[in-house]
Amino acid sequence: MQKKILLLPGDGIGPEISAEAIKVLDCLNKKMNLDIGYDYGLIGGCSVDVHGVPLTDETIAQAKSSDGILLGAVGGPKWDTLDRAIRPEKGLLKIRADLDLFSNLRPAILYPQLADASSLKRELVADLDILIVRELTGGIYFGEPRGVRTLENGERQGYNTLVYSESEIERIGRNAFEIAQKRDKRLCSVEKANVLEVSGLWREVMGSIADDYPDVELSHIYVDNAAMQLVRAPKQFDVIVTGNLFGDILSDCAAMLTGSIGMLPSASLNADGLGMYEPVHGSAPDIAGQGIANPLATILSLEMLLRYSLDMSDAADLIAKAVGSVLDQGLRTADIYSKGMMKVRTDEMGDAVVKAL
Ligand code: IPM
Ligand code: MG
Repeated sequence: MQKKILLLPGDGIGPEISAEAIKVLDCLNKKMNLDIGYDYGLIGGCSVDVHGVPLTDETIAQAKSSDGILLGAVGGPKWDTLDRAIRPEKGLLKIRADLDLFSNLRPAILYPQLADASSLKRELVADLDILIVRELTGGIYFGEPRGVRTLENGERQGYNTLVYSESEIERIGRNAFEIAQKRDKRLCSVEKANVLEVSGLWREVMGSIADDYPDVELSHIYVDNAAMQLVRAPKQFDVIVTGNLFGDILSDCAAMLTGSIGMLPSASLNADGLGMYEPVHGSAPDIAGQGIANPLATILSLEMLLRYSLDMSDAADLIAKAVGSVLDQGLRTADIYSKGMMKVRTDEMGDAVVKAL
C-alpha cells in the first residue's frame, strides 16, 4: 500500500527548507521506487492568514490519516501581537496534543566535520551524542488552571500550573528507558525535586520503574545542575528524560553545544508510532525568504521519518550518507560556515544532497 506523508511547511524559513527535503524525497521515490505520496497542509501563521486559526480540523484529519508528518517551522513577528489563543505556536501545541505526541526525541549530535563550530572547546564536545527525551503533551504547557486574573487590590497576576500524573510520568519514563537500552544504557532524569512536589513524584515514579530495566543505569539530577553540567561536561550524558518546560530549555542548550542547530532533526511520537518530524531550529523570520537557511535539519528530519514511521531504513541510511558526503565536500550554509569552506545557499545545499544520493 502506498505510504503517505503530510507536509506542513509552515512559516518563516519553513517553506524554503521543506522544498529541499521534498527534492530529496522525489529523488528517493524515483531511485528506489518507494512510492511515497505526499499532501500539503497549513499550520501556524499561514493557516491564521487563510482560516483565522493556526490549526484547522481539516489539517488534524489529514495528519491522522497520514503515515508521518514533516513540519518546517511556525511563527513570526507578523503574528506575535495576535490574541494568544490564535498565535501560530498554539497550532503546534494543538497538533501535539490532538495526536497525543507525548514523546519528543531531540538528539544533539556533533558532526565531526563541524567540531570547530561549537562554542565549547573541541575536546569537550568531540563525538558528542546526547538524546533528550522531552515529555511533550503535559506539564506546565497544558496544566490548568492558567490565565491572568485581577487581584482584590487591582493588580493583575499571571498563573500557570505544573502538573504531572503518575501515568504520564511512567509513560515517558518507560519510553526513555527503552531508548536508553538501545544506546549507551545511561538514563538521567531531570527535575527540580528539591523544590517542587510534582518533581518529587516524578523522581519517585522514575525510580519505581527502574527495576524493570536492570541493564540501564538511572541517575537523577536537578534541572539547574543539569544546565550547568551540559555546558561543563556534556559527554557525561547519554539519554536525558525530562518534562515539557525543562526539556524545551535544555534541548536548545544541548543543540547549541553542537554548534549547528541548523543540522538537528527531531521526532515527536505517539504510542501507535505515528510521528511528526521537524528541525529543532525555529522559523528564523530574520533570514526568511533570503535563500540562506540550512535545509539539512529538515532533510535529516525526513531521514528520521523514513526510519521510524515508514520503516524504510535503507532509504534513511542513504540520506544520512548523502548529508555526510556534502559536509565532506566542504559545502556549508551560512550558519555552519567557517573559513576555507564553500558557502552555499539553501537550494544549492538541497541540490548537492540530491546529487550525492
Ligand atoms: C519548541 C518550541 C515550541 C515549544 C514553541 C514554538 C511553542 O520552542 O518546539 O521547542 O516551546 O515547545
Ligand atoms: Mg523550544
